[in-house]
Amino acid sequence: MSYTSNVKTDHLRLKAWVEVIRHLCKPDRVHWCDGSQAEADALFAEMVASKMAIKLDEKKRPNSYLFRSDPRDVARVESRTFIASQKKEDAGPTNNWTAPDELRAKLDGLFAGCMAGRTMYVIPFSMGPIGSPLAQYGVEITDSPYVVVNMRIMARIGQPVLDVLGKNGFFVPALHSVGKPLKKGEADVAWPCNPENTYIAHFPETREIKSFGSGYGGNALLGKKCLALRIASVLARDEGWMAEHMLILGVESPDGKKSYVTAAFPSACGKTNFAMLIPPKELNGWKVTTIGDDIAWLKPSPDGKQLLAINPEAGFFGVAPGTSAETNFNALASCSKDTIFTNVALTDDGDVWWEGLTKEPPAHLIDWKGNDWKPGQVDKDGKPVLAAHPNSRFTAPARNCPCIDKDWENPAGVPVSAFVYGGRRMSEIPLVFQSKSWNHGVYLGATLSSEQTAAAEGKVGALRRDPMAMLPFCGYHMGDYFAHHIKMGKTVKNPPAIFHVNWFRKSAEGKFLWPGYGQNARVLKWIVERVRGIKPTAVETPIGAMPAKSDIDWAGLDFSDAQWEAVTAINKDNLRKQTEEQATDPFFVKFGDKFPKELTAERERIVKALAA
Ligand code: GTP
Ligand code: SPV
Ligand code: MN
Repeated sequence: MSYTSNVKTDHLRLKAWVEVIRHLCKPDRVHWCDGSQAEADALFAEMVASKMAIKLDEKKRPNSYLFRSDPRDVARVESRTFIASQKKEDAGPTNNWTAPDELRAKLDGLFAGCMAGRTMYVIPFSMGPIGSPLAQYGVEITDSPYVVVNMRIMARIGQPVLDVLGKNGFFVPALHSVGKPLKKGEADVAWPCNPENTYIAHFPETREIKSFGSGYGGNALLGKKCLALRIASVLARDEGWMAEHMLILGVESPDGKKSYVTAAFPSACGKTNFAMLIPPKELNGWKVTTIGDDIAWLKPSPDGKQLLAINPEAGFFGVAPGTSAETNFNALASCSKDTIFTNVALTDDGDVWWEGLTKEPPAHLIDWKGNDWKPGQVDKDGKPVLAAHPNSRFTAPARNCPCIDKDWENPAGVPVSAFVYGGRRMSEIPLVFQSKSWNHGVYLGATLSSEQTAAAEGKVGALRRDPMAMLPFCGYHMGDYFAHHIKMGKTVKNPPAIFHVNWFRKSAEGKFLWPGYGQNARVLKWIVERVRGIKPTAVETPIGAMPAKSDIDWAGLDFSDAQWEAVTAINKDNLRKQTEEQATDPFFVKFGDKFPKELTAERERIVKALAA
């Protein structure tokens, strides 16, 4: 057993926990991470030597690496994610639950000796700028060097975190193992994992995380969904703030005035793209800046007037496919260097490629499974072989982003004027509408539905309810979570205005009816003008206020009245039926008494209005 460490701590509880885990997991070595470039370089060198990682061409993609996961470990696994609260009722009907003692015993068995032959890394991390009144601290113990180098990008790690923790500071212990111990002399594989025994376990009362068997994304980078959403949502409920699956962006109008907007879209439904969009140049002088692309923590300002938001993360774990210079220039720039790519394709000249990066694919690639790939290749069933996995991702530092907001690390946060909810809806839901009130907005968030994507296991395209885009990420009873939202609207004097958008309506031929991406700036401009009271005109409909075509700035875009009609038309009969059906939808019926009466009242009001 060897120890290596370039950090110092007098935190006795932390040291004791590390010892307990060392005894349980039995690694060959323990390494405390300082987060330095030298440490990352050494880890990458080891991973390249052992063929876990491929160094990309230093000129084309400086300081960047490619990893290929086990094909069985490519996304979040919601079916193996658990909220182990003391009472089942506190986890609620939307979470998997196991009694904490039972789950602990099960996990103790799995973790026993699980790090044999490996190094156990100790990663002190901060979610949020270190020292911010909105920051939270954690320590991840992992046997995956891939996790260490990713956490170094996604969070702030190392000595400064131990310094703020001091002797006694509160931290969330987050234990992770790929679940593949090595016997003496056994060679490792490129992506160790244990899909048969995967558990992503949360203990909300004791604020603990234990993750076993997966090395991918939110399953393994425990600061992200596990801490910053599932555990943080519980802290937020208890302490009077909000932890949301939301991007945060700044909108600057030509007069230099700035407004901040957050938006909750389910996984792989456009948060990263919206957070970094470049408005069409014809929207003279309107600019968008990025605070965060996935998670927002919002707290009432000290004067109680508004909500202030921080991005708890320090990097982007972004979906690669579909990202191009035309659709998201800023994301591409963010991953032009210092980036970790997972499950994208490798070009013959040592760079990366994915579907949508360029119109014409290169003539030859190595695909995400490590096989030769040619354009037009089909599998034995005649289906196209994808060069990159649909949930392939880049891990890029936020500081690389050309449009990063100057206040993105402001420890106080930024004031939020609007919340936007949205999902993938090929029909029914119009381009944009505004709620009549805070509670109506909570209702819109609570009833959000979206077609399933590749970000989690399951059937892509199936419509499912995903309240506030938090279905997989809420650490307690979703009914109590709705009630917490309702309460937060009363906590601040000027709560954000709430909007609903849908970029994904399709024609009968299956083509997107709205151009999306940078063109979404036109909708964003209307939202900001509404919030600022500049453009109070809108069409009142039973589901909320919608812009008339003339309320939108069309400079530089030819969009016919017929096209506008196609993206905004509502079918009152269908909407009424769907709204009525919520009363008997098993998804909501399971909430029982915990479904807030305020939301039932909203539903009844809307049904009446649609029937009139
Ligand atoms: P997570 O990181 O999983 O939380 O995803 P996300 O919400 O950040 O989604 P992201 O911005 O990465 O977009 C996911 C996919 O949707 C990509 O393939 C995008 O190209 C596509 N997409 C994003 N915005 C739009 C849009 O406005 N219109 C259309 N048609 N597609 C979009
Ligand atoms: C999501 O699925 O919403 C993501 C990717 O942002 S992951 O980090 O894997 O959760
Ligand atoms: Mn996400």
